[in-house]
Amino acid sequence: MTRLNIIGASGHGKVVADIAKLSGYSDIVFFDDNKDVKECLGFPVLGTSLEATEGEVFVAIGNCKIRKRLMEFYKDRIQPVLIHPNAVVADSVTLERGTVVMAGSVINPDAKIGKGCIINSCSSVDHDCLINDYVHVAVGAHVCGTVTVGEMTWIGAGATIINNVSICGECFIGAGATVVKDIDCRGKYIGIPAKKK
Ligand SMILES: CC(C)(COP(=O)(O)OP(=O)(O)OC[C@H]1O[C@@H](n2cnc3c(N)ncnc32)[C@H](O)[C@@H]1OP(=O)(O)O)[C@@H](O)C(=O)NCCC(=O)NCCS
Repeated sequence: MTRLNIIGASGHGKVVADIAKLSGYSDIVFFDDNKDVKECLGFPVLGTSLEATEGEVFVAIGNCKIRKRLMEFYKDRIQPVLIHPNAVVADSVTLERGTVVMAGSVINPDAKIGKGCIINSCSSVDHDCLINDYVHVAVGAHVCGTVTVGEMTWIGAGATIINNVSICGECFIGAGATVVKDIDCRGKYIGIPAKKK
């Protein structure tokens, strides 16, 4: 199998590498800005720039804006979709490049997941949702059916988005929040029901 170059040797990078390993990648290397980090999950950190290396690229950076910038920079390289074997993804789901689906998550029929998304551990995205590019659905968050989430929005850990609502891009939904109506204005939203902070 081809080499997988992972950008970001952090905790998130470690989980991504574990999923890559379970998906059959054996030649995994990291790149990171921090010159002091030498390995991640037993795989070597080769430096800060992967220009000279061959193989596929996966950007494992939690920050949505940085992830977008790096994915666009490496847009000519293959950026795989990584799905943990213990995630449940319906056949009719579409997933775009550079997206990771972590253990215990469920994505139900006809959901569309854009590029560079993180569908984190034990989260769910229900039927007919449209999750745009670079969205993070954090650990244990639940997005009910027919929800639209705009680009680079972060759905915090354990948050719930009720069915049929639409959230614009560049929002931060706080951990544990419940979104019960459309959000049209970017910003931070917390609480039950979620309100602008
Ligand atoms: C919503 C959030 C972005 C706010 O961050 P912040 O702007 O730095 O806010 P602060 O930590 O300064 O807290 C400000 C106030 O909001 C409250 N607050 C913060 N997050 C809250 C949340 N999720 N729900 C309810 N209240 C919250 C704090 O208690 C504090 O209240 P106080 O002023 O009465 O003391 C952040 O707390 C959060 O929920 N992040 C999600 C993290 C996450 O899901 N990680 C997942 C990793 S997979």
